[in-house]
Amino acid sequence: MKVPFNDLTRHHAGLLPEIMAEIGDVFSTSAFILGPKVAAFEERFAALHHAPHCVGVNSGTSALHLALLSLGVGPGDEVVVPALTFVATSWAVSYTGATPVFCDVEEATGLMDPESLKRVMGPRTKAVIPVHLYGRACDMDAICGLAGECGAAVVEDACQAHCAEWKGRRVGTFGAAACFSFYPGKNLGAAGEGGAVLTRNDALAARVRMLRDHGQTSRYHHGVVGFNYRMDGIQGAVLGVKAKRVEEWTERRRAVAAFYRKELEGLDGLTLPAPEGPARHVYHLFVVRSPRRDALLAALAARGVGCGLHYPLPLHLQEAYAGLGYSAGDLPRAEAWAGQCLSLPIFPEMSGEEMAWVVDQCRKAVRECGR
Ligand SMILES: Cc1ncc(COP(=O)(O)O)c(C=O)c1O
Repeated sequence: MKVPFNDLTRHHAGLLPEIMAEIGDVFSTSAFILGPKVAAFEERFAALHHAPHCVGVNSGTSALHLALLSLGVGPGDEVVVPALTFVATSWAVSYTGATPVFCDVEEATGLMDPESLKRVMGPRTKAVIPVHLYGRACDMDAICGLAGECGAAVVEDACQAHCAEWKGRRVGTFGAAACFSFYPGKNLGAAGEGGAVLTRNDALAARVRMLRDHGQTSRYHHGVVGFNYRMDGIQGAVLGVKAKRVEEWTERRRAVAAFYRKELEGLDGLTLPAPEGPARHVYHLFVVRSPRRDALLAALAARGVGCGLHYPLPLHLQEAYAGLGYSAGDLPRAEAWAGQCLSLPIFPEMSGEEMAWVVDQCRKAVRECGR
């Protein structure tokens, strides 16, 4: 047996007739850019997160870029980003001309650590980007409180956290804006690139809408220098079909995670994801930690278990950011996570047999690698 890290073919198989019919509509109307399918999806996605506005764009990276720009972030500003995240979180800051300032993560969860955030915030901090990494919501009470004291805006990076919750409230409306990715492997994925900005703020939504479409105020009249960051009609059509199922898929992911947790609990040499606490985890990724991570990864790969590393090098140590002057040891918990994290296969269509087999391979591989 082999179990892949994710299986998008299986994920889409039952949906193809409906998806193809929706794509057929896009062709018959030639509404290839934005258009009614995108508008309908925006409405559905906003409702899923109880947000008044959703603006569809062409990637999560673009969503972050436009959210920051719309908040007036630019050269001379600092934006705090956790060191353990996908690099696009800080790319968005760099694109605006502001400087990313990296903070450390919590030992237990790998998420932005409010204590570390407090230490790195200063008079130039214009925004803070908590990342709901792996599908678990950050401590939004502490983070919004600290940002508020500093007059900094909060932009949630919810690219991995569709439908996740903090204290019973969906992510997406805690900050000034929240950004989502619909990269194909995400909990809600497009058939290509896609992203969205959610916000409660009418003016901010209008600004993101203008910026995504070349800064147009009316046809061929451009109020500001804008971007071509529009969502295309085919992605709107596909996402509209898939958004109806995302709650059900989330429950399946949570069931896989519960099974892993029950079966792998107490296995010496393997640290499981921390208990949920006040956050409802949507398990985009099921990330375990091991001091023998590289050996364990090799042993699992040899056994046919598809694993991933999220992420093996924290942002403050990336070559692209060498100019910022960080060194190894500056953010020790993010560095420890990067050296020990290992993502096990998790997707809604996993069968009971596959789940049991992965657990069995994990037990054997951990034993093989020692503690
Ligand atoms: C945490 C995080 N932020 C930002 C992004 C960027 O999203 P996209 O790949 O849609 O540009 C991703 C997705 O890969 C992500 O996981």
